[in-house]
Amino acid sequence: MAKTVGFISEKGGVGKTTACYHVAVALHRYYNKRVLVVDTDYQRGGITCRLVPSMIENFRSGRVEGATLFDKYQQLYSDMTFDPFVELMSTDNNIQLLPADPRLAQVAVEKMPASNNIKENNRRLYRHLALLRDILAPIDDEYDYILVDSHPELSDLLRSVVFACDYCVSPVKLDLQSTIGVPSAIQCIQEVNADMEMIQAALHEIPEYQPTGFSGAIGMMAREWGGILKSTERAEFRRLKRTCGVFDTYITEGDGLRQAARNRCPVYDVGGTNAEKQAAQFRTLTNEFLTRCPQ
Ligand SMILES: Nc1ncnc2c1ncn2[C@@H]1O[C@H](COP(=O)(O)OP(=O)(O)O)[C@@H](O)[C@H]1O
Ligand SMILES: [Mg+2]
Repeated sequence: MAKTVGFISEKGGVGKTTACYHVAVALHRYYNKRVLVVDTDYQRGGITCRLVPSMIENFRSGRVEGATLFDKYQQLYSDMTFDPFVELMSTDNNIQLLPADPRLAQVAVEKMPASNNIKENNRRLYRHLALLRDILAPIDDEYDYILVDSHPELSDLLRSVVFACDYCVSPVKLDLQSTIGVPSAIQCIQEVNADMEMIQAALHEIPEYQPTGFSGAIGMMAREWGGILKSTERAEFRRLKRTCGVFDTYITEGDGLRQAARNRCPVYDVGGTNAEKQAAQFRTLTNEFLTRCPQ
């Protein structure tokens, strides 16, 4: 059974997609893991377009072919029989992908058909929360890791992501404004876990639920001075370590990742001193990821 890990933060531009993509490629390439990436970022579809560049046009036109994650929410909203089949894509990196669908912006629990029965309403809230988990359940034996990239918003969709995950990590820039994204991610996880405890007590038919864990923040775009973190960033890193938990490995700011993004390839395939440094950091980070998000 795969372990599912969400890359979450209400902050945009902190490196969620970059981290998710490079950990996914490293897990497959250097650790021989079978990996599925789920893209729930309906606005940018960044990891979808990075893994399958030909998807850029589909994404711009607002229409993704096949049975998408959004179609499954639509089934719930129109009270149709739920069928968990979704269309996956194979990518050049030998990673499977459940692509982003721009219509995921419309996901909202209020769209569930109403009922005047409290128990039935709880059942519907639960079905909405559990949707992604229910889609992944029939296929999760085919993978070692399922990584979920997300949109920077504490939405009903993000709650489904958190519910489906065994662990979440929170990429972060090491400045005070961005690190605020970490406690709010932890709070979102705690709220989903608390809601599940309550729903489980109210509806006895619900399968066993393992609370989602927080595996740590990941320092992205870190700036060094003389080989160590700049003092303000070091202070922020230590504060995170004390309060929320943070990966020991961080990724430094630099041109290697920018060039990799331009070439739509992983930084492992880019030459040059900076790219090699960032590639080595991502390999070490992935090693730590395997310890913090164990199978
Ligand atoms: N360590 C880094 N050095 C330089 N650029 C980076 C680094 N990490 C991420 N970036 C760039 O920063 C931008 C935002 O990163 P992204 O992963 O898309 O953030 P998010 O998914 O949180 O919105 C992207 O253009 C990405 O290529
Ligand atoms: Mg992103």
